[in-house]
Amino acid sequence: MAESGQLWSDPVEIVNGMQLLPGFADSQSLYTEIQSLVQQAPLRHMGTRRGFTMSVAMTNCGDLGWVSDRQGYRYSPIDPDSGQPWPDMPNALKELARDAAQLAGFANFSPDACLINRYVPGAQMGAHQDRNERDRTQPIVSVSLGIPARFFVVIDNPADDKKSVAVDLSDGDVVVFGGAARMCSHGVRKLKAGHDPLWGEARWNLTFRHAG
Ligand code: SIN
Ligand code: FE2
Repeated sequence: MAESGQLWSDPVEIVNGMQLLPGFADSQSLYTEIQSLVQQAPLRHMGTRRGFTMSVAMTNCGDLGWVSDRQGYRYSPIDPDSGQPWPDMPNALKELARDAAQLAGFANFSPDACLINRYVPGAQMGAHQDRNERDRTQPIVSVSLGIPARFFVVIDNPADDKKSVAVDLSDGDVVVFGGAARMCSHGVRKLKAGHDPLWGEARWNLTFRHAG
């Protein structure tokens, strides 16, 4: 993130209430933080209520972590795999999320949950709304790292992801959505093969929320 001598480009509106901050996150400085987090709470493929296994590998940091299993989706203060609390959210991550939210017009964002997603080629995330958070006046801040992915936002009928706006997210890109876009359905198309010098053959995504 550049304080002066801006390294990233100006915000771009994707849809009303959703902004792309191109290259806002410093991917390199996040790398070590994330390696340490996944050592403490390893990535896992969660199941769904219907018995499917997600193609995206996930873990969390912060007071609350997003989990899914046969009981459905929810936030939990405990990592069900270890029985321990999730690792603390590092200050650098918290500050990145707060700064991005502020720039997009959401002052005082205080994330208490960070979902860490890892996509390998072929992995995808179907259209969904982020609806497990209590306070929907707070935005969602989503950070993309590694190989590019096609993110989409459903603009018409939430049940039909064909009418969507697509945006390719590259290493360091941040998307902030709140207000009119807070409940927009969104997802990620099947990841294409690629190589990133730092992150290898993978795309990582950090999704910050105020969940509790
Ligand atoms: C999510 O909606 O939780 C993740 C979106 C992304 O990977 O860009
Ligand atoms: Fe989401």
